[in-house]
This record gives sequence, C-alpha cells and structure tokens, in this order.
Amino acid sequence: MDNVTHIRNLSAIVGAAYCLDAERDTRSYATDYRGVYIGKALAVVRPADTGQVSLVMNYCHAHDVPVVPQGGNTSLLGGAVPDDTGHAVILSLSRLNRVRSVDAVNDTMVVEAGVTLQEARSHADEVRKLFPLRIGSEGSCQIGGNLSTNAGGTAVLRYGNMRDLILGVEVVLPWGEVWNGLRALRKDNTGYDLKQLFIGAEGTLGVVTAAVLKLVPKPRSESTAFLGFKSPRGALSFFGALRKRLGQDVTAFELISAAALELVLAHLQDARSPLSVQSSWYVLAEMASGRAQEDLDDAFYEALQAGLEDGTIEDAAIATADSHAAEFWRLREEISDAQTRTGGSVRCDISVPLSQIPAFIERATQSVLQIAPQTRMVIYGHMGDGNVHFNPLRPADVPVKEYLAFGAQISKAVDDIAVAMDGSISAEHGVGAGKRDELLVVKSRTELEMAWRVKRAFDPKNLLNPGKVLPLLHTAKE
Ligand code: LAC
Ligand code: ZN
Repeated sequence: MDNVTHIRNLSAIVGAAYCLDAERDTRSYATDYRGVYIGKALAVVRPADTGQVSLVMNYCHAHDVPVVPQGGNTSLLGGAVPDDTGHAVILSLSRLNRVRSVDAVNDTMVVEAGVTLQEARSHADEVRKLFPLRIGSEGSCQIGGNLSTNAGGTAVLRYGNMRDLILGVEVVLPWGEVWNGLRALRKDNTGYDLKQLFIGAEGTLGVVTAAVLKLVPKPRSESTAFLGFKSPRGALSFFGALRKRLGQDVTAFELISAAALELVLAHLQDARSPLSVQSSWYVLAEMASGRAQEDLDDAFYEALQAGLEDGTIEDAAIATADSHAAEFWRLREEISDAQTRTGGSVRCDISVPLSQIPAFIERATQSVLQIAPQTRMVIYGHMGDGNVHFNPLRPADVPVKEYLAFGAQISKAVDDIAVAMDGSISAEHGVGAGKRDELLVVKSRTELEMAWRVKRAFDPKNLLNPGKVLPLLHTAKE
C-alpha cells in the first residue's frame, strides 16, 4: 500500500484535520526542539482518545507502518523523532489531555498522556496536593513522555523518579489492543508488575495513553537558599551536614558551576547573581517540610550558620519571599536553554555514587582540557542524586562545526570516567537515538539480549519507535 493510501486511511480514523502530511506541517514534529535530530515523517497523526490510538496502532501493525510516539518533544537524545527515511508515522498524544479523575483521599490522580507536567501539577494543587515531579520543561513536556522516559529532575532527592510516582498505566499495545492497568493501589503483589516495563521504555513496547499518578501532601513550609562554595568537595560536605540536621526535608541540592551561572546570566537580561561575592561553585538548596515555617527556618538557618562559620560556605542568600525562590529556580532551570541558544555544546548526563562526584568532576575537567584547552565547564544538576550535567562549553571564538568535531571525543572521555567510577552514561536523559550504541559498551551481552527478548515479545515486527534504546546485536533479528 502506498503512502497516499495510508494517509487517507489514517485520516479516516482521526479526522483529516488531525492527520498532517504536508512537510511544512510535519517538520516541527519530526525535528527535536534543539534542531539536532532532524527526521522525516510519513504523517503526524493526532488521535483524540485511547480508542483512536488503538485504531491507529491496529492499522499500522496490519500494514507494517513504523510508529514513533511523541509527547512534548523535549527529549535531548532524539527519542521522540523518527529517522529521516520518511517511513514512520509520528503519533502525537497531545490531544489526550484530560484529567480523568482526582482522589484526594487516596492521594492519586488519573491523567491522560498528553496532559503537560505543569497542568498535572496545577490540578494537584487545586486539591491542595503536590505532584512532585519537577523539571524545567514542565510547560511543554507531557506525562506520557515523563513516564516513557522515567523522567528525573530537581525533586528526585526527596520524591524519586517518575517510576516512583506511578501506580498504574493504560497502554495501547503494538497490535492495537488496550491494556487497562489503571490500578490505584499502593499494595498489589499479584505477579509480574508489567507497568514497570513501559516506564522508561521510550515508547518501544507500547503507547502509554493514561496513568495513575501518586500525589503527596503539600508541604506546609519551604525555605530556599543560593550558596557559594570553593569546590564540589565543600558542597558535598555541606550536603552531608544538612541531611544530618534536616533529613528528608532537604528536597533539592542543585550544583551550578561559575561558568553555568555566567552563561545563564548572559542570556537572561533582567537577571543577576543572588550573591555579592563570586564563587567557583554555587548550590541551590531547597527545604520543604510538614512542620511550621518557623521551625523549618530555624533548623535551616542553623545549618547555614554553621557552614558559614566553619568556612565551608563562602556566601549565602536566603529567599525571604516566594519571588526570591522563584528567581533562584529560574537561574537554575534556564541553564539548559541558555546552552541550547549558545549552540555547539557537548552534553553529558552522568551519575556516579554521590561520594565520587567531586573526584569525577576533577578528573573529567582535566580530561576535557587535554582534548580542548580553553574550554569552560558548564556543570550543573542534581548533585544530591549523584547526577550532574557535565557540558563543556564551546569557546566563543571556535566555530560550532569545529567544536562539535571534538564532541564525540569529549563525550567519550567524560562517559569513560563515569563508567570507571561505576556510574551511568545517561542518568536521566534516557537513550533515544543518541546514546543507543554506547549501550553496547556499558551493558553486558546478557542484559542486552534480555532487553531484546522483551522487545520481541511485545513488538516482533519492530514497528514501535524503531532504532531507539536497543542497540543492534549481531545475533539479534530486528
Ligand atoms: C536539567 C535538564 C537538562 O537538569 O536535565 O536542566
Ligand atoms: Zn537534569
């Protein structure tokens, strides 16, 4: 069957207005938001509900049409865009955007895949609850994508990854059958926990259409500070002291290198550093608690005071209004976009055991400087989770093309150091197309073959998000 027939048949399922095939309409869906992965789509199909997703999948399965599920298209590794053959249909979930129900006693909420993270959080807020996943792209990223990539972000330290925040899923299987696994139970030991297979599968096993999200009580009090440190070692030692005093109330501990702060300040015209003294390293620390504001403030200020007195902390700014805290967070969350706008940066998303973070940063910095002297290290991220984004920045006088020629060499050097420290080469950004082949080096044959067995059990025709996540093995029949 030819493409024209496919487009006509898919239009009949979703309505002509929701089956886009003109290149000018499909281009933005087929390109990732950074413009790094540029694919081509047979069509973009935008179903209205689970029933239509099922019909689309059933059709594509019957006619061997590859399908790339897509949420907010904010992946950094090309996970949500097709290759450039033009064979695949992009299945956009953005019209499945209903909040189906909220149970404020059970602390759960059933939402569809296309609900943005921001909408999910504000719905929870309306019933005075918190949906704790927090990432900078919350206005565009969608729950289906968050789930399919097991998203992390800036509140993992306290609340865990997306995997920890999901109780149930509704999935359309590759052949179009719907699995209603929307259970809202915190205890359910009835055999294999199959929903886990779809969390972090990046749309390679099925299309997630809805999920049961866990909510938590909203904290009564919050306290946020922006701190200066001499070194990651100092920041790590303060983190330990802070946790000793405040335990689970430490919700975020985000590291920011001086180059990262300078970059974001250069891009945000109205922003300035919260601190009067310049440091080599900064930390955004956030506390949240069920106790009264005064109690939390007292405990936090005592910890800060101790850090300032023993010289661990060089300088501190405490948010005394919500607007200050929001400004601290804006500085942190805009780093990634500032880097995208600068162009030509190398992005590594590594994790190591927390104790190894300072040594990792030292070794990776030295290694990058040997490859590309003069490079400034934009390092930021979720230090409390043992996860930093280590992104050597292109020097202004080196053209993008020239710098990117070093890119693969730099990424490899950084990733090798993480692996040597028993770390991960992709802590929270997933695999997509960009990291797929690196898995051949960091995972055993046994593990990769198990993954392929699962893949073949669900998708023997390899039609779902083909070319992503699973590296090709010689013996593996795709
Ligand atoms: C962040 C994204 C890039 O932490 O993971 O800003
Ligand atoms: Zn991050």
